[in-house]
Amino acid sequence: MEIINRIPRMMSMGRELKARGKRVGLVPTMGAFHEGHLSLMSRAREMCDTVIASVFVNPTQFGPSDDYERYPRDLARDAELAFTRGVDLIFAPLASEMYADGFSTYVSVEGLSDKLEGASRKGHFRGVTTVVNKLFNIVQPQFAFFGRKDAQQVIVVKRMVQDLAMGIEIVVGPTVREEDGVALSSRNAYLSSEERKAAVVLRKALERGRALYTSGERDTSRLAAAMRSIIEAEPRARIDYVSINDAADLSAPVVISLDRATLLSLAVFIGATRLIDNVVLNGEI
Ligand code: PAF
Repeated sequence: MEIINRIPRMMSMGRELKARGKRVGLVPTMGAFHEGHLSLMSRAREMCDTVIASVFVNPTQFGPSDDYERYPRDLARDAELAFTRGVDLIFAPLASEMYADGFSTYVSVEGLSDKLEGASRKGHFRGVTTVVNKLFNIVQPQFAFFGRKDAQQVIVVKRMVQDLAMGIEIVVGPTVREEDGVALSSRNAYLSSEERKAAVVLRKALERGRALYTSGERDTSRLAAAMRSIIEAEPRARIDYVSINDAADLSAPVVISLDRATLLSLAVFIGATRLIDNVVLNGEI
């Protein structure tokens, strides 16, 4: 399996694969692979002739107080894991080439990007959509694979692809969870063992929301309050947000409508580590 660092080389390979009629699948990542990433690679392997995983810790999607510097990086380990899932090639560009001197072009999806994660992490999605757009331009895939755990990212990227007629099919893979229900995340590595135990409250709160919904509760403020109370009972947890939104436009309904996919999502600090998770009711994102 080859690792390509340079943009011109990746571009010419992407062009060549396209010219040869290959179905190219891209799994964009920031590395630190876990089963969530690897399951996307396996899915890509089933659907595509050539599977490319990009590994790039993208500085423009991190705020000044975020964990850009300490984000886990281990390309050799990632490459070994990707190989076991049949990835053909890793594209690991240099930040100095992705954002060369004078870089000044950004892609923003307005509206959707300012809510939830975007409200807490100003400029985050502008960084995501800019780098994803650039990765798409370089690799030229027909398919791109994203995990449902970052539900808003999926919604924003799908909007960008549709609005800008990019002609790329976005494939969404399920959230992969540990046995106790905690969603896999590269940031789980920051948790102490006590914090790791406490992290289960995210899942518990979402399951409580889902259960109440299933038993007939439709009022979003009551659902959110029930979810909040579960998290508030955990001393190591501090809520950033608990939110209930229409999964198409991220508007915040007062009452959940049966014919609209609805996103229950939350961001919670466990100690100093900020974790996110979600469930979708009534459909898919
Ligand atoms: O989900 C991620 O790992 C990142 O946001 C992505 C899509 C690779 C863009 O940097």
